[in-house]
Amino acid sequence: MRTRIKNAHIVLPDGTTQVDVVMEDHTIADIDAAPQMQVDEVIDAAGLHLLPGVVDDQVHFREPGLTHKEDLAHASRACAKGGITTFLEMPNTVPNAITQELLLDKLALGAEQSIVNYGFYIGATPDNIEELKHATRTPGIKIFIGSSTGDLLVDGQDALEQIFAETTLPLTAHCEDETTIAENRKRIGPITHLADHSRIRDHQAAIVATQRAIDLALRHKHRFHVLHVSTAAECDVIPGNDPWITGEACPHHLFFNIDDYARLGTLVQMNPSLKTAADNEAIWQALVDGRLQVIATDHAPHTLEEKRQPYPQSPSGLPAVENSLALLLNEVNRGRCNLEQVVHWMCDAPARVWDIVGKGRIAVGYDADLVLVDLRKKQTVRNEDQLSKCGWSPWHGTELTGWPVRTWVMGKEVFRDGQIVASGATGHEATYDHARGGYWATQCD
Ligand code: DOR
Repeated sequence: MRTRIKNAHIVLPDGTTQVDVVMEDHTIADIDAAPQMQVDEVIDAAGLHLLPGVVDDQVHFREPGLTHKEDLAHASRACAKGGITTFLEMPNTVPNAITQELLLDKLALGAEQSIVNYGFYIGATPDNIEELKHATRTPGIKIFIGSSTGDLLVDGQDALEQIFAETTLPLTAHCEDETTIAENRKRIGPITHLADHSRIRDHQAAIVATQRAIDLALRHKHRFHVLHVSTAAECDVIPGNDPWITGEACPHHLFFNIDDYARLGTLVQMNPSLKTAADNEAIWQALVDGRLQVIATDHAPHTLEEKRQPYPQSPSGLPAVENSLALLLNEVNRGRCNLEQVVHWMCDAPARVWDIVGKGRIAVGYDADLVLVDLRKKQTVRNEDQLSKCGWSPWHGTELTGWPVRTWVMGKEVFRDGQIVASGATGHEATYDHARGGYWATQCD
């Protein structure tokens, strides 16, 4: 089956150009295809932009074990709607994905349920080093250096040294320092106000843990990806050109800050916590100047009932896969960034950080994971429209300009004009070529 996407504006690293893209079966077969090339289907994309499907390297899809909040069927549909064609999911499911066997169970669930491509991290514990050393079919190892939702935690220095010294898979971590958090809790005393969340999980907690992880990575010469940077100071300790270190921002740390607690309450309670407007600005700046390379969502849904409990009973986390690309396209329209940057942060860079084969670019031979976006389309985010099982969004009521209109996963259409059109579980397991050496080693491909 050959499909011509005609007159699409495609976004290449050095600019945008209008061409015909042809997909054949799973792959991109031609770019700037000759008009006489025989095809089975023609899609007129005049006036629209064709982007590589988004690779979201940080999501919590809750299956198995927490499927009252989210599951792979709902979440992957939310991804397709949001232009995300590959997700990498975190190990704090129930049971935690901390062995090869449990990883294989999640991969089987992905194959059964997901309409977009999938991958699953293996979680570190203080005593699963042998599993971490031999794990396969995974993008990398996730360490909770600070605790968040669930009970995964490795904060002892010896255990961390061992993980950085003895494993070979790329590493990533939730960086909030447990000692700092405990001291802040003690100093603040009885906690009743949501604003205390950002005082307990404060700037210092984030900086200390991020600095500690970077130090481990540099000493052990081990690839390390800093997740969800929430402070200006972390941006300053991420070198931005060191072969071992990459870093990432999330929409909530770009678009929300502590001033939003008054309006949105526990809906925007997150770990790492929201910080200040100055931190938002600094994180944007770090993306623009290349110290941070990736934008990912940290999609972490809880039910509205759970979120509406009074703080501190309320859990941390918010859903975002459905709206992350639109939020960034809206910023393109506002002039804050350009489309090339969005494609870099959301598609190409995460694919390279995790050595994902065939993803993140529109190039001949790459997988036909594509999203057609209409930069002029205006739409308001509404809770009632959300496909995520939790059924709410912290951006409810926000009008955004620039939306995905069609999404293809490995050449199969999964989303079109507001509807999911996938037939069956169209997602494929992501594959990794870790010998490539990650983001910095592949910069000039
Ligand atoms: O706020 C958060 N919630 N941060 C995380 O790192 C985990 C997530 C969750 O799984 O709920």
